[in-house]
Amino acid sequence: MPDYLDADELAAVEARLSKYPPLVFAGEVRKLKAALGAASRGDAFLLQGGDCAESFSEFSADTIRDTFKVMLQMAMVLTYGAKVPVVKVGRMAGQFAKPRSAPTETKNGVELPSYRGDIINELEFTPEARIPNPAKMLQAYTQAAASLNLVRAFSQGGYADVHQVHAWTLGFTDRDEAEKYREIANRISDTLDFMSAAGVNQDTAHTLQSVDFYTSHEALLLEYEEALCRTDSTTGLPVAGSGHMIWIGDRTRQPDGAHVEFARGVQNPIGLKCGPTTTPEDLKVLMEKLNPTNEAGRLTLIARFGAGQVGDHLPRLIKTVQAEGANVLWSCDPMHGNTIKSSTGYKTRPFESVLREVREFFGIHKAEGTIPGGVHFEMTGQDVTECTGGVRAVTDEDLSDRYRTACDPRLNASQSLELAFLVAEELSTRRTEAAARAV
Ligand code: PEP
Ligand code: CO
Repeated sequence: MPDYLDADELAAVEARLSKYPPLVFAGEVRKLKAALGAASRGDAFLLQGGDCAESFSEFSADTIRDTFKVMLQMAMVLTYGAKVPVVKVGRMAGQFAKPRSAPTETKNGVELPSYRGDIINELEFTPEARIPNPAKMLQAYTQAAASLNLVRAFSQGGYADVHQVHAWTLGFTDRDEAEKYREIANRISDTLDFMSAAGVNQDTAHTLQSVDFYTSHEALLLEYEEALCRTDSTTGLPVAGSGHMIWIGDRTRQPDGAHVEFARGVQNPIGLKCGPTTTPEDLKVLMEKLNPTNEAGRLTLIARFGAGQVGDHLPRLIKTVQAEGANVLWSCDPMHGNTIKSSTGYKTRPFESVLREVREFFGIHKAEGTIPGGVHFEMTGQDVTECTGGVRAVTDEDLSDRYRTACDPRLNASQSLELAFLVAEELSTRRTEAAARAV
């Protein structure tokens, strides 16, 4: 937690935030929870993705539109493969605070407090920039509100209409995955033409013309989170108004810690990152604390072990969940266990490792007979060079070209779509095998 220097200034910001309208509403939160419940049973699939850290300086309508567009493309590919609805959740409109492994950073012999995300301090390496400033919470709220406004307009205002499926390919060149995407898009258009020719009624029109798109972020900065909590007038219970879904990070999941205590008290769907150091004992306590009524859709366990390590950790956590009879949604974050330093000095993630972790996650769920219900990616619609590999083979030397992230390396649009095809393949294999067993 940041040490704010001026307690009065902090209190004044919190007082203002607590009077602002919530960014999301209890009814939406309940709807998302029901959708995640369906995903936990295999009747839907969660696609969660977006920036590692949203930044004030990179904020623009184009950035939001491009990430939104790639997520729609990925969702289309996944829906096509899995034949179930895809629940779309952005790491967006609130993903501003970053947990850090070390409280300080040293460059050329100068030691300064670490950058903790734009909602707290600034990336620039100067003593002034690194001072935590409470007023940044107000700017974060404003940016989140503007982002959500745009996302709501894109979701409902025609942009996400499935009849636009070809328009979403704009910007593609002649790459492999673009070809595969166009093929799916063609089949979808054919189906739509057929439905319309056959007079399939207008009731479904609304379903096809708009999407539900939800927001999520790590609920790390509790000053901000608490100030945006509201009471749900329907149930009388507290709801985090900062985003639809919030998650607890791998560094702040202590069962008796403040972040768990906060999440326990709100009705939103909760994500819990599970890493190599998550013990079955901790998981058991966390599940009891975070979901005492065993409500489906309330708790998503986000596995982030690293390629080659999933087999060492996931099976015992799956067994704990089964022993407790707990309702959880299993999601795979193949990003945070695969961060390395490139030969050129950049923090990167090899696309190969990302793919491998996803495959291992699906493989283990298959072996255990459990349901892989979602994925969690750090990605952007921009053509960045932050993760190496992919069909357009970003090399260590390429990283410096368009390395723009404020924190961890993200998949670019092409890598994101490539990954969606892999996940769709895994899901459709799973479906075919389940159907064969049923026969
Ligand atoms: C993140 O999701 O950005 C993050 C820091 O993840 P984790 O807590 O799993 O390391
Ligand atoms: Co990250």
